[in-house]
Amino acid sequence: MAADDWASLLPRRLLVTGGAGFIGSAFVRLLLELPAPPRVTVLDALTYAGNRANLEPVADRPDYRFVHGNICDEATVEPLAAEADCIVNFAAESHVDRSILDPGAFIQTDVYGTFVLLEAARRHQHPRFLQVSTDEVYGDVPAPHRSQEGDPPRPRSPYAASKAGGEMQCWAYHETFGVPVLVTRGSNTYGPYQFPEKIIPLFVTNALDRRPLPLYGSGTAVRDYLYVDDHARGIAMVLARGRVGSAYNIGQGDEPIDGLSIARTVLRLTGGGDDLIHHVQDRPGHDRRYALDITRMRALGWHPSRDFGAGVAETVRWYEQRRDWWEPIKSGAFWDFYRRNYRPLAGAGAPP
Ligand code: NAD
Ligand code: TYD
Repeated sequence: MAADDWASLLPRRLLVTGGAGFIGSAFVRLLLELPAPPRVTVLDALTYAGNRANLEPVADRPDYRFVHGNICDEATVEPLAAEADCIVNFAAESHVDRSILDPGAFIQTDVYGTFVLLEAARRHQHPRFLQVSTDEVYGDVPAPHRSQEGDPPRPRSPYAASKAGGEMQCWAYHETFGVPVLVTRGSNTYGPYQFPEKIIPLFVTNALDRRPLPLYGSGTAVRDYLYVDDHARGIAMVLARGRVGSAYNIGQGDEPIDGLSIARTVLRLTGGGDDLIHHVQDRPGHDRRYALDITRMRALGWHPSRDFGAGVAETVRWYEQRRDWWEPIKSGAFWDFYRRNYRPLAGAGAPP
């Protein structure tokens, strides 16, 4: 089978939950730009992180529909699941720092919401259910190990624990009720349309405004950073070709990158000086290292299309050109969160 033949194997009527978020919207844009797109219904609660502007490029497509609603609400999910042949679940509370401030919403959406979707998939006997999970379920991974799909989950943040909880239900529904689940565990993703709270879009937008870049602790914690279009294509390929009952690590697979290097790279690309780097109090329970073995994805015919240097340069260009997208987001409620999160330090860059 040719490497790009996966598209013909996709289900034809998809319910994409959380499709107005960062990675979900990239996935929807990718599918709707295929020569023979499937029908896509997005169900999204439009939390602070959801944004219909992320789906504007496909808003007029005849195969696309947007429904505003919550995955925890069975009455909303039921009719949408009835007319779909597959659910792809991106919906989640997704930011570790917010999970430290307010864990409850994470349990609700990431655990209970996943249960509601699994029940719907079970009732309607969908031939596939894809849960978008994260490499954070592995917890801190000491060097030189790279996480493999068979490694046990050891989540250490409320976010990671909520995602592991959602995943565990998927495995339980697979074993107990035969729901045909697939799970992807993506690494730290970056690129256009990312809410500016995660390190790369936060640092890029702060640097463009010459605000300080708040680096946790010494900035030595490392992550595997993956470009969003590669993550979206990886999920689509697992949906098309993955083996039911399996998990797939989706990551760059290179040597993971530390926070200080990210700050310096962003400052070099935006013309800011290193004096903008502001070491702030470390995140509680900060995982020091994530690293992935991506052999299984490679066997599926997937590989990342860009290295980090190319991806981050492209991302900086996008944020330079799309102030219309991020400036309205970095206002009111955003700065309330920012002051709460980075409170113990003076001068982390929030407006007074
Ligand atoms: P995001 O925060 O940008 O988007 C989440 C979307 O889910 C938003 O549109 C939000 O409105 C929606 N949502 C939240 N609660 C909902 C609910 N109860 N009902 C319906 N919709 C709801 O997140 P993202 O970065 O795009 O991540 C998408 C998925 O990928 C998540 O499951 C996340 O755990 C996972 N993931 C993210 C990364 C990353 O680096 N961003 C890496 C690996 C895995
Ligand atoms: P983040 O983008 O929040 O993703 P995650 O915690 O889910 O991996 O953080 C990535 C890395 O960047 C992590 O080591 C924490 C660090 N970081 C900072 O140093 N400063 C920040 O303001 C943020 C948000 C993250």
